[in-house]
Amino acid sequence: NLAPLVDPFARAISYLRVSVTDRCDFRCTYCMTEHMTFLPKADLLTLEELDRLCSAFVASGVQKLRITGGEPLVRKGIMTLFRAMSRHLQTGALKELTLTTNGSQLAKYAAELAECGVKRVNVSLDTLDTAKFAEITRWGRLPQVLDGIRAAQEAGLRVKINAVALKGFNEDELFPLIDWCGEQGHDLTFIEVMPMGEMGDVHRLDQYWSLKDLRARLESRFTLTDLAERTGGPARYVRLNQTGQKVGFITPLTHNFCESCNRVRLTCTGELYMCLGQEDMADLRAPLRASPDDALLHEAIRAAISRKPKGHDFDYSRQKVAGQTTRHMSHTGG
Ligand code: GTP
Ligand code: 5AD
Ligand code: SF4
Repeated sequence: NLAPLVDPFARAISYLRVSVTDRCDFRCTYCMTEHMTFLPKADLLTLEELDRLCSAFVASGVQKLRITGGEPLVRKGIMTLFRAMSRHLQTGALKELTLTTNGSQLAKYAAELAECGVKRVNVSLDTLDTAKFAEITRWGRLPQVLDGIRAAQEAGLRVKINAVALKGFNEDELFPLIDWCGEQGHDLTFIEVMPMGEMGDVHRLDQYWSLKDLRARLESRFTLTDLAERTGGPARYVRLNQTGQKVGFITPLTHNFCESCNRVRLTCTGELYMCLGQEDMADLRAPLRASPDDALLHEAIRAAISRKPKGHDFDYSRQKVAGQTTRHMSHTGG
């Protein structure tokens, strides 16, 4: 195997996020506009090509692979990729194979995912209110997602719920979300909304609810113990002493975590984004297709990693949005 990938800031790249489609069956209002132009299907890498790309990263020391979208489970034939990746779990090269999903197709795929060696899934769920769920996703059906989550549990998968903290939207659901996750045995992570993509009428500052605030509100009811343990993602966790449950905070705005960044993102057309918050990307499709041998591809990956920037420039201070990217979150799957 090859030498590990290390960026200019001495950060080892061990985590690859792969967006397998830019499409989604929902249109969350902080993630996409209602009318999105999706890529023509002909532009997508094939599942075989995605396999080859992911495998090249695994050969270079990537140990954690997260399949994302859009919604990854709407990509036709996606289980072929999971099955292909499970061979890297078997050899021990890959330590974790997982996905981030909106949950809508989990009832269909949970058992198969578990068979492929997936141990846990992250499910995006911002509200437990059916009407509000339909509003935030523009047409999603909450019962379908709850069925999916149940199926995942029944298949033996651990479920982590991701909730974007949204002012005036789920502020009043902080404790209901905590209580429900506690009852169901799910970990729960809150995320600060990031300025990615033009949102039409929606203004990021109107949506933004800082996790400093959210944490203070949590402390009005619970005693929190900060935990040192990490999952390899950006969340920092606390334990609620009264219930024992774990709550995570992803705080790009109030507490930058770029210093310990270990990840890069591949899109469904073979673009490699070195940072979620920057526009720079490297095309891996050309070197992939240029030769059946992986030498050019490995060269291109290393050249890309050597350009990984220090971090994002997202900032909302002084009531202004800075560091906004032109692309939407759905392009790289978060
Ligand atoms: P775990 O393995 O459970 O730690 O998951 P994760 O946090 O790595 O993945 P997940 O897809 O659940 O990420 C949740 C959200 O956190 C993403 O959709 C992004 O909004 C945000 N996020 C994840 N990674 C990064 C990152 O590198 N930078 C920034 N700014 N945000 C990130
Ligand atoms: N800011 C923060 N998180 C976002 N997500 C989507 N758009 C944004 C945004 N602008 C989250 C989703 C999901 C994950 C893939 O990214 O809710 O949990
Ligand atoms: Fe890494 Fe960029 Fe995310 Fe910071 S914003 S943690 S550098 S991907």
